[in-house]
Amino acid sequence: MKVEDVLHMATGDGENSYAANSRIPMKAMLKNRPLLQRTVEEVYTSLSPASTMVVADLGCSSGPNALFIVAEVTGMISDYNQNTNEEQHGVELQFLLNDLPKNDFNLIFQSLDQFHTVTRKGEGDEAATPPYYVVGLPGSFYNRLCPSQSVHLFHSSYSLHWLSKVPEELSSGEYVNEGNIHIGKTTPHSIVNLFREQFQIDFELFLTLRSKELISGGQMFLMLLGRKSEEMLTHGEIGTMWDLLSESLQSLVLKGRVEKGKLDSFNLPLYAPSVEEVKAVVNRTELFEIEHVGMVEVNWDPQDDDSDDEHMVLDTARSGRNLSMTIRSVLEPLIAGHFGEGIIDELFAVYACIVAKHLEKRNAKLPSIVVSLKKAMH
Ligand SMILES: C[S@@+](CC[C@H](N)C(=O)[O-])C[C@H]1O[C@@H](n2cnc3c(N)ncnc32)[C@H](O)[C@@H]1O
Repeated sequence: MKVEDVLHMATGDGENSYAANSRIPMKAMLKNRPLLQRTVEEVYTSLSPASTMVVADLGCSSGPNALFIVAEVTGMISDYNQNTNEEQHGVELQFLLNDLPKNDFNLIFQSLDQFHTVTRKGEGDEAATPPYYVVGLPGSFYNRLCPSQSVHLFHSSYSLHWLSKVPEELSSGEYVNEGNIHIGKTTPHSIVNLFREQFQIDFELFLTLRSKELISGGQMFLMLLGRKSEEMLTHGEIGTMWDLLSESLQSLVLKGRVEKGKLDSFNLPLYAPSVEEVKAVVNRTELFEIEHVGMVEVNWDPQDDDSDDEHMVLDTARSGRNLSMTIRSVLEPLIAGHFGEGIIDELFAVYACIVAKHLEKRNAKLPSIVVSLKKAMH
């Protein structure tokens, strides 16, 4: 099964849609703002007059986050022009919004008119938004997407932890990850390695393709789910989040609502690497220089903005529901495709309760890796 044939976030803008449940990536992206600004200004100031700056967002999905990069880059450039009293020297911006073909591109296109009205301001003055154009670019980022040396900046948020496929040894049934839907506490090491190897293959391919598409000196700003340490391969709070979903499915197996074989044969095509793993792949390819690599964390509950690491979750039932809604908006199409629509409401109600119970002990966080790369000069 190729992920590109089946994967998409929940469509539309109803209460279970990704559009209505994508606050976690937005919060993480806002934490990276100063770094993104530095990258955007560096790319912008290296352009010659009257050129077109091409920016591609990979895995844009739909809803408010899909136009985040357009709003940020245009805003950062108009602020830069205003703060430095520089002429805009006629630079225009071309945005390419990429996602898999089943993504709800129509929702993005329908929101563009209103977006233009809000962002296009002050033509002729220094704070004016530079002229920009937006197009959709359907396709997998594990394939070529753009002509050679045509892109100045690639951005990607919360997308690169998606693999191109579940490792073949698992999808063929040669290996069985019994009772788990991802790397869980009971997942054998041999299976952990299959996921890790698939990530290494996919990420190396991604870097090779993007390096062909970037202009000389072009940059990439990537954020993906990550693990905090090398040793804790099967643990950490991301592992726990999937473990609790496996537990929810196991409870439906016990009730006879899901066949055990169905659970054993389902694996999420995801991998959350450590910083060291990301660095190792980048360094092995010798295609990029690492400008910055680090981690940001946000609470599991997208509505919980308390930044104190040790804080107790006040309303665990509400936080459980909030995380459950988020994960449902990401996984519903995949889970419904494998287990059937009929279990979705029940599964995510059980998951909300199990997450709430987990949060009674302490707050939990979702770590992400942020890496900014510059195409190496050879
Ligand atoms: C969780 S959403 C992130 C959306 C948005 N960037 C954000 O930060 O909210 C992940 C997106 O990555 C897309 N995606 C996953 N694998 C992809 C691939 N190989 N090529 C293009 N898009 C992909 C999914 O379809 C989904 O829309």
